[in-house]
Amino acid sequence: MIVSENIPFIKKWISEEKEKGKSIGFVPTMGALHAGHLELMQKAKKENDILVASIFVNPIQFNNPEDLKKYPRTPGQDKKLLEDIGCDLVFIPQEKEMYPEGEVIKEYDFGELTNVMEGKFRPGHFNGVAVIVKKLFDIVKPNRAYFGEKDFQQLAVIKKLVEMEKIPVQIVPCPTVREPDGLAMSSRNKRLSPEQRKAAPFIYQMLQETKKRRDHLCVRPLRQMIINRFEGNDNFKLEYFEIVDDVNLQPISAWNNKVGTVACVAAWIGNVRLIDNLRII
Ligand code: PAF
Repeated sequence: MIVSENIPFIKKWISEEKEKGKSIGFVPTMGALHAGHLELMQKAKKENDILVASIFVNPIQFNNPEDLKKYPRTPGQDKKLLEDIGCDLVFIPQEKEMYPEGEVIKEYDFGELTNVMEGKFRPGHFNGVAVIVKKLFDIVKPNRAYFGEKDFQQLAVIKKLVEMEKIPVQIVPCPTVREPDGLAMSSRNKRLSPEQRKAAPFIYQMLQETKKRRDHLCVRPLRQMIINRFEGNDNFKLEYFEIVDDVNLQPISAWNNKVGTVACVAAWIGNVRLIDNLRII
C-alpha cells in the first residue's frame, strides 16, 4: 500500500493507472476507521481495479472547535486496517496543502437541502464538506466514490455538488452498518463512556418504533410521540427528530407512499453528538 501526502505524486500515480485503463474507487474519510468504513472500502475494491482512500480531519466542516479537538485520531491503526483490506493508495494530506494560506473558501448554495437538520444545527458544516470533497475529487479523479447512508443529508449534498460542478464521478451510497444492538457505527462512538454506550441503542430503537407505528399514526403525532420519548430519557438531549422526503430532505406533513421517506435524528449523549436515520417508506 502506498501512503502519501504528496498531491503531485498522487495525481501522477492515479493518472498513470487510469491511462492503463484501470478504474478508481475512492473512499474519503476522516480516519478513526471502523467496520462501517471497511464495508465501503470492500465494496469500492470489488467494483473497481484500484482502491484509493483518504484520511483528513477537515477543520472547516467542524462548527464546534471542541468537537474538532476531540475528534478521534488513530492513524497507526487506520493504516494497518487499510493495508489488511488491500487498499492500494492512501492519501493523508497536510492541512496547509489542502488549504493554502490566503485561499478564499468557496461558498456553495445548496438551497433548501441545507436549511434543515444538520444544515440548520451545524452552520457551515456542509459547505466545509462540499469544499473538501470537491478538492479531493479534483486530486483523485475517481470513477466511483463511496459514502455511507448514515450521513444521509451529507450524501444528498454530495450528489448535488457533483451535479452542480458537473464532476464525472458516480456516487455510490452504502447502507449504514450497525453494532449487534443496533447502534449505527460512527467514529464518535469511541468517545462514549461504557454507560453512554449502553444507553446509545435507544436512538435506533426510536427509529424502528417510528417505522413500526407508521401505519397507525399520522406524521405529526408520531413525530411528537418520538420527541416525547427522547425528552423522557435522561441520557439524551434531543437536537432534532424529523420525518423527511428522501430527495430534498424537507419535513413531510402526511404519509405518501409515492415519496421515499426517512426518519432522521440527532441527539447528544453527554458531550457526544450522534446522528442516525432509517428509511420508513
Ligand atoms: O463523512 C466523512 O467522513 C466526511 O464528512 C468526509 C466526506 C470525509 C469529508 O470530510
